[in-house]
Amino acid sequence: MQMLMTRSFVVVLALVGITTLSGCNVRGLFTSYGDDPAWVDPNAAAAETAAAGETGGPGKAIYGRICAACHLGSGKGVPGNNIPPLAGSAIAQGDARKPIGIVLHGFRGPIERNGVQINGQMAAWKDQLSDQEIADVLTFVRSSFGNAGAAVTPDEVKAVREETASRTVPYTEAELP
Ligand code: HEC
Repeated sequence: MQMLMTRSFVVVLALVGITTLSGCNVRGLFTSYGDDPAWVDPNAAAAETAAAGETGGPGKAIYGRICAACHLGSGKGVPGNNIPPLAGSAIAQGDARKPIGIVLHGFRGPIERNGVQINGQMAAWKDQLSDQEIADVLTFVRSSFGNAGAAVTPDEVKAVREETASRTVPYTEAELP
């Protein structure tokens, strides 16, 4: 009888042990995905953009569809993963020709932002986005995330597009228009 009780006790202990262990593993999995800045869920980013309650305009949807996948719905980017923030970015908010040039032709490092070395590459969007769409998305970026840059017009985009038509590679910081 005593033998039997000891056995069941061992079985119960083993069961508790297995449950606890697998519990840890499941939590471990979620934690590592959730905390890993390299793992970006574009849908989550779009939802985050919507939840941020920005004033929006037509550029908000374009941002959520394209830019948020890298720069995040919060505009904070993932600097540790070579994606600079747009929130507070001097280039995003400054002379519109620079961010227009970046979206048209792409941008590559090395750059330094907020003391962090960033050496990434952003692709060109000139063949995918119209002058109107680039104006809309940049107007959204320049008036969201605490930024305070003037709206961008399709005519401004058109002018930079024509002037830089021969460009085939992404800008470095020194080359920006
Ligand atoms: C695939 C990822 C990716 C996507 C999508 C993307 N970007 Fe970027 N973006 C980057 C990276 C990487 C850099 C920095 C490159 C470097 O190292 O210089 C950057 C830089 C920028 C900068 C310069 C910021 C600064 O302070 O230097 C602006 C502005 C910008 N992106 C706007 C946009 C907009 C607007 C969109 C959507 C139309 C967009 N990006 C989509 C990856 C991306």
